[in-house]
Amino acid sequence: MPLGGWSAWLVFASSSFWSSIGTATGIAMGKSYPTVSEEYLKAVEKSRRKLRGFIAEKNCAPLILRLAWHSAGTYDVNTKTGGPFGTIRHPDELAHGANNGLDIAVRLLEPIKQQFPILSYADFYQLAGVVAVEVTGGPEIPFHPGREDKPEPPEEGRLPDATKGISYDNLFLGSDHLRDVFGHMGLSDQDIVALSGGHTLGRCHKERSGFEGPWTSNPLIFDNSYFTELLTGEKEGLLQLPSDKALLTDPVFRPLVDKYAADEDAFFADYAEAHLKLSELGFAEA
Ligand code: HEM
Repeated sequence: MPLGGWSAWLVFASSSFWSSIGTATGIAMGKSYPTVSEEYLKAVEKSRRKLRGFIAEKNCAPLILRLAWHSAGTYDVNTKTGGPFGTIRHPDELAHGANNGLDIAVRLLEPIKQQFPILSYADFYQLAGVVAVEVTGGPEIPFHPGREDKPEPPEEGRLPDATKGISYDNLFLGSDHLRDVFGHMGLSDQDIVALSGGHTLGRCHKERSGFEGPWTSNPLIFDNSYFTELLTGEKEGLLQLPSDKALLTDPVFRPLVDKYAADEDAFFADYAEAHLKLSELGFAEA
């Protein structure tokens, strides 16, 4: 779908998908989740199993987690635009500088998505993000279906800038920037630090971001080593972005880094909560 077929998708989105979704009924944690059909739920469970096998086989959990995060992280709490609504497959959004390389993730997932035409891309990408964390040993994250696919991609410039760390004239340049960006999503200081632990997976690629290398020595395992490495300081072969280092100097962020480095269970609990919030930004608002 990403490459061509956008208008065909719009026709599809307005017909079969919507007829399969009922009215909003389920209410939990300040959310009002829509009811989806039995057939839709079955497709969620079956695609979850397919995704588990596929992501494990291809070792692509990091890229898939980045896709889910960049899809959701465009949400703006004030205008209620952007967010996890499937628009990231649109060529215009894939062309945003922050999304370099994510066309690969969209392409990788497409053959599985094709097997489940009933699912929205919005649900499918967020489910894939949850599975990516799970199959690499991370916490289980609840998943609620029923996101709608939006037709319009958000404007560029809503995702964080990795080059913002500390500078000579502003020790808090990086943390101010993170608060600004995540604040627009409606996320908290704790969410920022916990979600940054997503860099326990994967690596930077010179040709995609200009940076090179993994954050940890086991980039296909979801654990708390992002935080232990961050505290250890720079090490041959590993990388810390200026935006990662910004967590060390901020008086609110730093105690959370210390806590997550010392206590993996605490990290997993806060990560699962923050990831769930991220994956549901602008969705099922009560
Ligand atoms: C806090 C602000 C963040 C900044 C500035 C940032 C920046 C970056 C950059 C520059 C890359 C390298 C892309 C490449 O060259 O391939 C990257 C990769 C990645 N990011 Fe983030 N990120 C942030 C937050 C997050 C969050 C919240 C998550 C998930 C919860 C996340 C998950 C990932 C993953 C898994 C990769 C590895 C992708 C791969 O291996 O292909 N990041 N990030």
